[in-house]
Order: sequence, then C-alpha cells, then structure tokens
Amino acid sequence: MIKKCLFPAAGYGTRFLPATKSMPKEMMPVVNKPLIEYGVEEAINAGMESMCIVTGRGKHTLMDHFDKNYELEHHIEGTNKEELLVDIRNIIDSANFTYIRQQEMKGLGHAILTGRELVGDEPFAVVLADDLCVNIGGDGVLDQMVNLYKQFRCSIVAVQEVPKEDVHKYGVIAGESIRDDLLLINDMVEKPAPGAEPSNLAIIGRYILTPDIFELIESTEPGKGGEIQITDALLQQAQKGCVIAYKFKGERFDCGSVEGYLDATNFCFQNLYLKDDQAELKQKRTEKFSSIALEPV
Ligand code: G1P
Repeated sequence: MIKKCLFPAAGYGTRFLPATKSMPKEMMPVVNKPLIEYGVEEAINAGMESMCIVTGRGKHTLMDHFDKNYELEHHIEGTNKEELLVDIRNIIDSANFTYIRQQEMKGLGHAILTGRELVGDEPFAVVLADDLCVNIGGDGVLDQMVNLYKQFRCSIVAVQEVPKEDVHKYGVIAGESIRDDLLLINDMVEKPAPGAEPSNLAIIGRYILTPDIFELIESTEPGKGGEIQITDALLQQAQKGCVIAYKFKGERFDCGSVEGYLDATNFCFQNLYLKDDQAELKQKRTEKFSSIALEPV
C-alpha cells in the first residue's frame, strides 16, 4: 500500500556540534546502531520497500552504511563478530535505497519537495530520523499510521502532547476530535510564538503524505525562519480536503537534543539491546542509574 519512505537528511545537526561537524547527525549511534537505522527498520516493519534519502554535502557515510562492505565482511568471516552485522544485512536485503542531494537548505517542505523525483505520484511516508520512536511489544508508529491510512486515505501526521514551555519548538495543530486518538485538523502553526499556539499537540517526525502535497509545497511561500515549511503546505491540504492528526502509541525521543539523545540511549539499551537472559545486568543498570539520579549535583 505505502511502499516508499522519505528521509530528509540534509540538515547540519547544529544542535549536536562538535559531534556533527564532519559526521552526519543521522549517523550518531544510539547504543550500537546509527539513528537512521532505527527509522529504516520502522519503515521496513511497516511494509515499506524503498528508502528515499534526501542527502546533502558530507553525507556519504549514510550511503556507505546501507551498502555492503566486502573488505570488512571478508575480515570477520567465520568469527563471532559476524552476528553483529545480521540486522544491517537484513535491511540491505529487504529494502532498496535511493538518494538525491538537496542543494540548498530551504526548510523541511523544500527537502520533501526535493524527494519528489524519488517518490513519484504515490502516497508515501516521511521519517525525521532524529525523532526516534519505539513501541515496545507493539506495532511501530509508521505501521500504526499505515493502518490508519488504509481507512482514511488522506495525509496523517503523528502528534504528541508536549509541555507548554516546549510548544514553540514544534509544528502545532488544532482540530476536531473524531476518535480518542484522532483529530481532523483545522489549524496548524509552525513553531508558534508564545500565546499564538493553537493547542499543546505537537507534530513529531512521522508523516504519511498524499502526493498532491508536492504541488501544495510548490505554491507555499517561505514561512517561519524564511523556510518553506511542510506545516504550511499541510494546512492548505487540510483546508482543501482532509489531514488527520494521530496520537500514536509508543515512546518518542528527540535525539536532536543532548538530553533526548541520552534518554533514547538508556531506553534502547535497557529495552532493545539487552536480551531477556541479561535480566541481572538490566537490574544492575537500573540501580546504577537510580543511584546517579539520587546523588546531589
Ligand atoms: C520539524 C517540523 C516541525 C515538527 C518537528 C518534529 O521541525 O518543521 O513541524 O514539529 O520537525 O521534530 P525541526 O525539528 O526540523 O525544526
């Protein structure tokens, strides 16, 4: 149904300097995997086959990561290290990767429009890799959204309630409730000024978009920060037809911030990396973290 997933990945990752000076922020490891690999896994688990990556200058390690490395593979052949490559090998075998370079940084809307050549005329997903989403024991966030798309056949954005003081960091929506976890959007504002926020429901980096969005982006004037905002194009789509906001199930970490990145690392280490037979180690880590938290600074 939805086979393509677009990853805008051309940004500079300035919030994480100096780490991102020469390394793409999408390649920052959360435990032992780069951030973007979590997003790609989420897309594959939602049935997607084509990963369309919008890159920029200095991002060649992204391409290398989703490709074979014969020299390394030959080097570790027959050793127990081979096990460490099982997941990434599966990814490379089950998806195809296409790339396009964004020449100028003109906002998220512009990055998505740059991916048009790769996506074509079909509905597609968008993942902002620095929003890491995990739903332990349940369907991934994109999978949840694909199921909704089957029912509603319109663009869908994932939203989350955020504290009032953080609302200005996000695209924010307002709408009419159509189910406990769904709203029909009637207003959207990109990074609202204090007092101008339509609600505390923030858009997080998961979207399903119908392809008419491309023309709407083309006619969208630069907005917040002088950039072409996907939020503004989606508002036009909502006014002309229908855009749904979905309160997803699962955890979301803002890995573009140092604090969110640390939380994601601890969470993924405990819940994804450690195996069930390492319960004792899990317990030790939990004790260690709680004792750190209790120490006065
Ligand atoms: C982008 C979008 C914003 C959204 C956010 C989610 O902002 O423009 O609407 O709420 O991603 O992470 P950015 O974080 O790129 O500034």
